[in-house]
Amino acid sequence: MPIATADFEYVRTLVREQAAIVLEANKAYLVESRLGPVARAHGLDSIATLVGQLRGARGSRLHDHVVEALTTNETSFFRDIHPFDTLRTAVLPELVKQRAAVRRLSIWCAACSSGQEPFSIAMVIREHFPQLASWNVDILGTDLSEGMLARAAAGVYSQLEVNRGVPAPLLVKYFARDGAGWRLSPEIRRMVRFRGGNLARPWPLAPPVDLLMLRNVLIYFAVPTKHEILERAHRALAPDGVLFLGGTETTLGVHDGFERVAAGRTTYYRRR
Ligand SMILES: C[S@@+](CC[C@H](N)C(=O)[O-])C[C@H]1O[C@@H](n2cnc3c(N)ncnc32)[C@H](O)[C@@H]1O
Repeated sequence: MPIATADFEYVRTLVREQAAIVLEANKAYLVESRLGPVARAHGLDSIATLVGQLRGARGSRLHDHVVEALTTNETSFFRDIHPFDTLRTAVLPELVKQRAAVRRLSIWCAACSSGQEPFSIAMVIREHFPQLASWNVDILGTDLSEGMLARAAAGVYSQLEVNRGVPAPLLVKYFARDGAGWRLSPEIRRMVRFRGGNLARPWPLAPPVDLLMLRNVLIYFAVPTKHEILERAHRALAPDGVLFLGGTETTLGVHDGFERVAAGRTTYYRRR
């Protein structure tokens, strides 16, 4: 049955308030297709009953499950490839030079979904920067979705997921068969830690970040939220830190504290 207009509006408001995600008015079909399984998983007979329960109790686990179900978790290993080429050939070599005295590097993949992005960076470091083995390299992956974080922490991927981006030599070297899927080696899993984190809420204070990957998530937010998040990103970055956004995202017209650097076939941003 199609979702009632009032229920759709309730869900839109909930998702905007909890995750800052903007669901357009024409996305009722999306809400129906994503919330049907949530209702069934909670033993509820319809989306109307589900929304009725949501209205009855604020801030429950059910609210979290509904918000999570409405996030888009699309990701892949070495997604868009060019940013990873630029990391390997330009950004990381420069950062390694700049941090040689302190031998510390802080990398944050915000909105990391099921972990492919931070693990791709870990593989780049393991493959191409062996000198960092004795440094303090912190690779942090955060996301709103507990379900995605649990998947990331498990480090197990389907055949389809590894086919989408893992080069054969890295598959052989860093993955082992696990049933029908592939398990990342402990040496790569150990390099990344995962934590919950809502970009739409104030961020806890942390040491300056050298490399911030904030890719393919700003697209879901309204401009004032994008600005707020970029303002926090600006404060979180080290003065010479580097910010990567997704291929369709930009700071232009949203926050003027960044300069755009064209590098190879990609772009990244630095603080002005
Ligand atoms: C399309 S995926 C992008 C994954 C990865 N960064 C990439 O580029 O492949 C978007 C991710 O953003 C997360 N997300 C959405 N809203 C969020 C919020 N307010 N705070 C933190 N993460 C959020 C979703 O759970 C989802 O995993």
